[in-house]
Amino acid sequence: MPNVKFYSGETIPLEMHKAMIVQKLNLIPIEDRLESIRDAGNNTFLLKNRNVFIDSLTDSGVNAMSDRQLAAMMVADDSYAGSETFYRMESKIQELFNKEYFLPAHQGRACENILSQLYVNEGQIVPMNYHFTTTKAHVVLNGGIVEELYTDDALQVESDVPFKGNMDIDKLRALITEQGADKIAFVRIETGTNLIGGQPHSLENLRQVRQVCSEAGLKLVLDASLLADNLHFIKTREEACRNMSIREITREISDLCDIIYFSARKLGCARGGGICTNDKEVYLQIRDLIPLLEGFLTYGGMSVREMEAITVGLEETMDEDMINQGPQFIEYMVSELEKRDIPVITPAGGLGCHVDAMGFLPHVPQTQYPAAALASALYLVSGVRGMERGTVSEQRKENGDETLANLELLRLALPRRVFTMSQIKYTVDRLTWLWENRKLVGGLNFTEEPKILRFFFGKMTPVSDWQERLVEQFKKDLGDSL
Ligand code: F0G
Repeated sequence: MPNVKFYSGETIPLEMHKAMIVQKLNLIPIEDRLESIRDAGNNTFLLKNRNVFIDSLTDSGVNAMSDRQLAAMMVADDSYAGSETFYRMESKIQELFNKEYFLPAHQGRACENILSQLYVNEGQIVPMNYHFTTTKAHVVLNGGIVEELYTDDALQVESDVPFKGNMDIDKLRALITEQGADKIAFVRIETGTNLIGGQPHSLENLRQVRQVCSEAGLKLVLDASLLADNLHFIKTREEACRNMSIREITREISDLCDIIYFSARKLGCARGGGICTNDKEVYLQIRDLIPLLEGFLTYGGMSVREMEAITVGLEETMDEDMINQGPQFIEYMVSELEKRDIPVITPAGGLGCHVDAMGFLPHVPQTQYPAAALASALYLVSGVRGMERGTVSEQRKENGDETLANLELLRLALPRRVFTMSQIKYTVDRLTWLWENRKLVGGLNFTEEPKILRFFFGKMTPVSDWQERLVEQFKKDLGDSL
């Protein structure tokens, strides 16, 4: 928000945009929600949109687009090869990231697939500040090992550390000394670190990581999917960057990295992805895989209309008024939950609001998936669809044992520019009711459990009749309210 003070003294975010297209929402009664969540096997991924009121599953591919993005889609140049649209996108990437080569891909995980196939050999390690689900799956699929080198602050639920997404430099140095640089495929930094609550890294930390990579001759790869939020946090939280423009910060981040890849379902507020680099050898290696796995080199599996929208979206990412809405709404929501003592990740990050399910449901053991149980319970009492980001999002060990997640989070994503203040207040209200009735909520057990990325299609059942009891209490307290 620019410098606008409310006369009342209230501090709430003020949007610097207006809505011109709206979509009608549907809130079904709680009895129908019970049926829906049962049919979905208590997995919010398997709910049908028609049964969801506020969709906070993700910020991926569902951010509101701007008038300029929509307009740009109309001038897309559809051709298999040599599309003008591609050259416009390439030139925007070259301008913002100062990288000569751009390779399009259909989304973020496609970039991860290609980079892992090319650079991760059997037994090699990929150090990173924190893993992301699809990243880890691709590294492991190629015989690699993920080493998370987060700082001690990263997993503290309540904290005032501004950059919990930083990589621990001492751990990185120690790993390289212990294992030798040959054993390391590349170093990966995830900007706006997703699974620890959309937490940023600082520019200074990235400089230090670069320094270590240069000394050891290692490539530094940046996952820039959540760059917009991280840019906002560097600008507002890193004292030394106060006077830098978003464009300058982007440029420095980019100059520190050898390879940048991104999901344009997040960065650029459309749908697609890509990889960029200044290294010709890397470019040539990746280039050969794009037509094989994605599509010809001038579209990489993306619709040209989306590519035009991404090009404009990337430019709009350089505008602080365009990128601050998400983090400010999240900060508002987090502070409202904190006021009610509801355990939530602090400081507020990007992407969404992250409720600490172990703090919310301490009576539900991790083996009964508290974050999944909380996601199911919140949908039941509100129609709000969040996402489990805890043990269900992990993969079992080879011997079948559970990998208990470091954090059990219910992620309530706030797609950029999509929801209104009253919808946030509604979500906070229903979470408050659930907090007061938390003892009623029990755990879940798997009934169907896929081997890879089980959180997408796995199905679960409640360990008791806790859902019926929750519905009963809801009706007692809220009568015939939806
Ligand atoms: N990296 C990060 C940091 C992500 O958050 C995502 C996607 C990806 C890579 C993969 O990109 O979806 O375009 O293939 N995150 C989404 C989410 C799915 O809901 O957090 P993708």
